[in-house]
Amino acid sequence: MARTLTLPGMLDPHVHLRGLEWARKATFASETAAALAGGYWAVLDMPNTPPATIDAAALDTKLAALNAEAVCDWGVYFGASQDDNTAEYAALENGPVCGLKMYNNATTGTLLIADQAQRRRHYHAWPPAKPIAVHAEGQTVADILALVRETRRQTHFCHVSTAEEIALLHAAKADGLPVSVGVTPHHLFLPADDVRALGPLGLMKPELKTAADQAALWDGIADGTVDVVESDHAPHTLAEKQSEQPPFGVPGLETTLPLLLTAAHEGRLTLERVIELVALNPQRIFGLTPPPETDTVVDLDATYTITRATLFTLCGWSPFEGMQVRGRVRAVRIRGEAVFDGERVLVPPGNGINLWGPDVA
Ligand code: NCD
Ligand code: ZN
Ligand code: ZN
Repeated sequence: MARTLTLPGMLDPHVHLRGLEWARKATFASETAAALAGGYWAVLDMPNTPPATIDAAALDTKLAALNAEAVCDWGVYFGASQDDNTAEYAALENGPVCGLKMYNNATTGTLLIADQAQRRRHYHAWPPAKPIAVHAEGQTVADILALVRETRRQTHFCHVSTAEEIALLHAAKADGLPVSVGVTPHHLFLPADDVRALGPLGLMKPELKTAADQAALWDGIADGTVDVVESDHAPHTLAEKQSEQPPFGVPGLETTLPLLLTAAHEGRLTLERVIELVALNPQRIFGLTPPPETDTVVDLDATYTITRATLFTLCGWSPFEGMQVRGRVRAVRIRGEAVFDGERVLVPPGNGINLWGPDVA
């Protein structure tokens, strides 16, 4: 008999669903379907897709599109902007967003805030009740930690990728700072130093690092420094990735759980730890309790090879293609309703709700 595992309300707090002006890359319908296929109850969408989610009008546009299209539950981040948009923040304390995203190093989109004084203004203005998620690499992690120390704002460090960053965050946690740490499946599982083999499909921010950095991420999973494995699902078309100037980012929603279950099978972490990393810890960080009868059933013994043919993501490729995994999503339920049966999405567009919206009691 196949061994199964039930996970309670998987939540990916770091995805770029696209849609809107980037619907050629992916849509809210296609990528929330990819989320269900990956086992997820809910995803939190980043603000860097044009029109960037940095004002009330762009926020309304995104909320309307997600309300119409999403098949899983969702939240959206508001984005910190270089043209000071902090006047918008007070209204968001009880508003429809899950948190603030601040880009402190260059990546896809136009939201870079490189100036520490500007970062400081955003930190002070953001309402303390909701987390700030940061893209911060290297020394920038220390710069952001100084602001956390000063303002005590709850901060989630996205896609941490080096031994140096892990050490800084380990120390920050020991000091009692309100920080959490996310790492991505690509930094955990893609062969470090092997960008050449992957070509442009291995290009993302932060870049793939060394084997020593990769080992530090796994140590962080073992010792509790790492709280979340987040996909940083960032679909770009294959044509764009194979162009002269490939954009940074890789899809990941459908491969994160099977990769982690495979690692668990190999004894690299426990199944309990997998559940913490993809469900319990992201729920805690964002103050969410999954609705009743919201869970994911996986077959722990099913083995298969990751291939683009079976992916729901509209971009239609994966940097993990060809990898053998063990562990397959068989069923996802949300509020008692079967939403995915292992092969098909069973609900219409718009079935998912904003977890920070009026539909939540
Ligand atoms: C992300 C994207 O394409 O939106 N790209 C990436 O390489 N991770 C942006 C980001 O998360 O930095
Ligand atoms: Zn980023
Ligand atoms: Zn990202």
